[in-house]
Amino acid sequence: MTARAAVILAAGEGTRMKSPTPKMLHRLAGRALIDHAIDAAQAAGCQRVVVVVGAHSPAVAAHVTARLGEQAVAVQDPPLGTGHAVLAARQALADFDGDVVVTLGDCPLLTPEAVAPLWRLRGEGADVAVLGFEAADPTGYGRLILAPNGTLLRIVEQRDATENERQVRHCNSGVIAAGRARLFELLGEVKNDNAKGEYYLTDIVGAAHAKGLSTRAAIAPEANTAGVNSQAQLAEVEGIWQAQRRAALMDEGVQMSAPHTVFLSWDTWIGPGAVVEPNVVFAPGVTVEGGAQIRAFSHLEGAVVRAGAIVGPYARLRPGADIGEEAHIGNFVEVKKVKVGQGAKANHLAYLGDGTVGAGANIGAGAIFCNYDGFDKYETHVGAGAFIGSDTALVAPVRVGDGAYTGSGSVITRDVSADALALARGQQVEKPGWAAAFRERKQAEKAAKKG
Ligand code: UD1
Ligand code: CA
Repeated sequence: MTARAAVILAAGEGTRMKSPTPKMLHRLAGRALIDHAIDAAQAAGCQRVVVVVGAHSPAVAAHVTARLGEQAVAVQDPPLGTGHAVLAARQALADFDGDVVVTLGDCPLLTPEAVAPLWRLRGEGADVAVLGFEAADPTGYGRLILAPNGTLLRIVEQRDATENERQVRHCNSGVIAAGRARLFELLGEVKNDNAKGEYYLTDIVGAAHAKGLSTRAAIAPEANTAGVNSQAQLAEVEGIWQAQRRAALMDEGVQMSAPHTVFLSWDTWIGPGAVVEPNVVFAPGVTVEGGAQIRAFSHLEGAVVRAGAIVGPYARLRPGADIGEEAHIGNFVEVKKVKVGQGAKANHLAYLGDGTVGAGANIGAGAIFCNYDGFDKYETHVGAGAFIGSDTALVAPVRVGDGAYTGSGSVITRDVSADALALARGQQVEKPGWAAAFRERKQAEKAAKKG
């Protein structure tokens, strides 16, 4: 099979985002746009990936280097257009022999299925293969100018298009495949005599056609080719991504009664038979096993919820929360970096941070793991079957033994032995008749003032 490489263009300034954050590091489903583009290239079978970044956004280069290594980064400085950007990757691909697909870093919905027709066209002898789509609103996109026999004659950018050409609905997705040598040969011929004064990648089509080479287009669904140029488009693409992912999860057997109110991340994993109630947010890093139930208005991040567990309504799971089988985490309970054992319960208003809760333990309302002294974090370990009375403050580092009780309102600063009761609260004193006497005195004072 022909070897495949991808050149991902990510050196534009992204000025239309109007944000100090580089466009490529804006997040879609909790993952940077550039990572979505890299995922798509890898899934499309590209063994080599080169990302072209701008000198104006060192954070993008650092991000890509951290994921793929230095050899995967090429710098375009200054950015003089998409064609000029591909040329910046020439050196990095000097030793590569095979097909190159150019994709855009701001096109995060691309799938391997959408790219596949380009490989097919290449296999059928097309020298340049372009992925197009039929735009509901083509404004802003490059238009594909096709001959009646389907040959792609050229691509014309919106700004350079005539009124007639602007009526064309077939648009350029920005994804273009060609043999490496041919690609760089054609790019060498591209000029910048256009409305923007830039070197357009899209001009290689006209150049190839003029040479008598074969230039063809395939049409992908618009949902896979949408570009992100503004905050509004980012939100739109997020909406498409979320809808696709929810549909896929329901297809796999996840139950959601109001799917449009459930927000997922790129790596959210939910097993068949899990139930997700309305208004749940899955930030990155969450696994929910089948048979678990995530009730309304819960927020989960970096957490595992095991089979049969119930989380929420109104629960917050933060990174490192591991909720065991059949465990219950109820309303206004926050869990961070705590492994909660099988069948354990924390049903109301608690903070469990750093530690463990043994199987079958019961954490009363208002219990707090006091894990932080302003400098360091300490652990709390609650044994299996232990009963933590309401409003207990467990001052870490501290351990409560298996089967032990703590009295409500206790401030526990020392370890508690298994099966013991620990009480650490003021003794109750009672003054008989005090309240009645107090009321009588106060009422008399009030009457005297009025009179
Ligand atoms: C581009 C295409 C257009 C297509 C549209 C699809 C060209 C000339 N136009 O237009 O035909 O319909 O995408 O979304 O190719 N970039 C660089 N260096 C540069 C300029 C851009 O790396 O000098 C990168 C950007 O970071 C971005 C991508 O190339 O990821 C596309 O650039 P952008 O300016 O967004 O092009 P569009 O106007 O969307
Ligand atoms: Ca764009």
